[in-house]
Amino acid sequence: MSDNGSPTKARPRVFSGVQPSGNLTIGNYIGALRQWAREQYHFDSFFCVVDLHAITVPYDSADLHTKTREVAGLYLASGIDPEASTIFVQSHVQAHAELTWLLNCITPLGWLNRMTQFKDKAAKQQADSVSTGLLDYPVLMAADILLYQADAVPVGEDQRQHLELTRDVAQRFNHLFGETFTIPEAMIPPSGARIKGLDDPTAKMSKSETGSEYHAVYLLDPPDRARKKIMRAVTDSGREIRFSQDPEKAGVNNLLELYQALTGESREAIETHFASARGYGDLKKDVAEVVVAALEPIQRRYRELTDDRSYLDSLLAQGAERAATVANKTLETVRERMGFLKPYA
Ligand code: TRP
Repeated sequence: MSDNGSPTKARPRVFSGVQPSGNLTIGNYIGALRQWAREQYHFDSFFCVVDLHAITVPYDSADLHTKTREVAGLYLASGIDPEASTIFVQSHVQAHAELTWLLNCITPLGWLNRMTQFKDKAAKQQADSVSTGLLDYPVLMAADILLYQADAVPVGEDQRQHLELTRDVAQRFNHLFGETFTIPEAMIPPSGARIKGLDDPTAKMSKSETGSEYHAVYLLDPPDRARKKIMRAVTDSGREIRFSQDPEKAGVNNLLELYQALTGESREAIETHFASARGYGDLKKDVAEVVVAALEPIQRRYRELTDDRSYLDSLLAQGAERAATVANKTLETVRERMGFLKPYA
């Protein structure tokens, strides 16, 4: 045991999560899922389907149900190994909700009012329908991370402020009640590694963007849909196929980034490959084939896994049990430090 009550960790612990809303995209695969899978043997990883976060905005209950299984299935289909990593559903481990309440009571309201994601999401809704849960979202996220004494949290740039808040809450708790929580580090991929929207290459590809049908390739898109989306990607009026930071060329650059992320070839080799292309049509065709080839094994594994519903459900049950063992231990320490009476002798 280390002095903060968490078991001494042989490998650094990682925690991350995806909300079961929207549709996971090729960008999520490249920037998150594939990366988690590649590094999972170096870490003691916990990958959570954060369903309690998904209900902070208006949602459909049947959809939540389906998407929860879908995200878990896509974790596995992307190569996350349930023997090496713990995959589970947030609401299956009750400690998340309980620690959120406890942390709520030491989190100044002003900290939450400053969160830019809250302001953005609230602005998109009618003021009288914005839930208290949406404001409290970052505290739930802090509870997720702190329950597991995570050392590192792989997330996108958009979550940086939430990670800062998590660290502030942990520090405040440690200061008030004694060293209890590990202070986690954000693990944010370099900005170049982020795939942009096909319809708008200046904004990141998002799984919850509903404005255009041609915004993103989803991991479960049939090959023809995926091809069609790539063929419609926004480019420019030129014909030069090279990596470029010029905002004018953001569309072409994004297609090349996608190609590079999926083939692993060098930028030089890729530019040489496209030197003889007759135009952007040729570029798009090749990118489309590379994308379709990357999706094929993911979709095959996904179908195999989800054909047998009980297999996925039993994996999630095991995951929740493993997660709860760790989470409950932290929660017990927290309850004790905060002065709660033990429920039984
Ligand atoms: N807020 C994160 C996102 O939208 C999802 C999330 C919830 C999360 N809890 C987490 C990510 C804990 C990392 C760690 O991307």
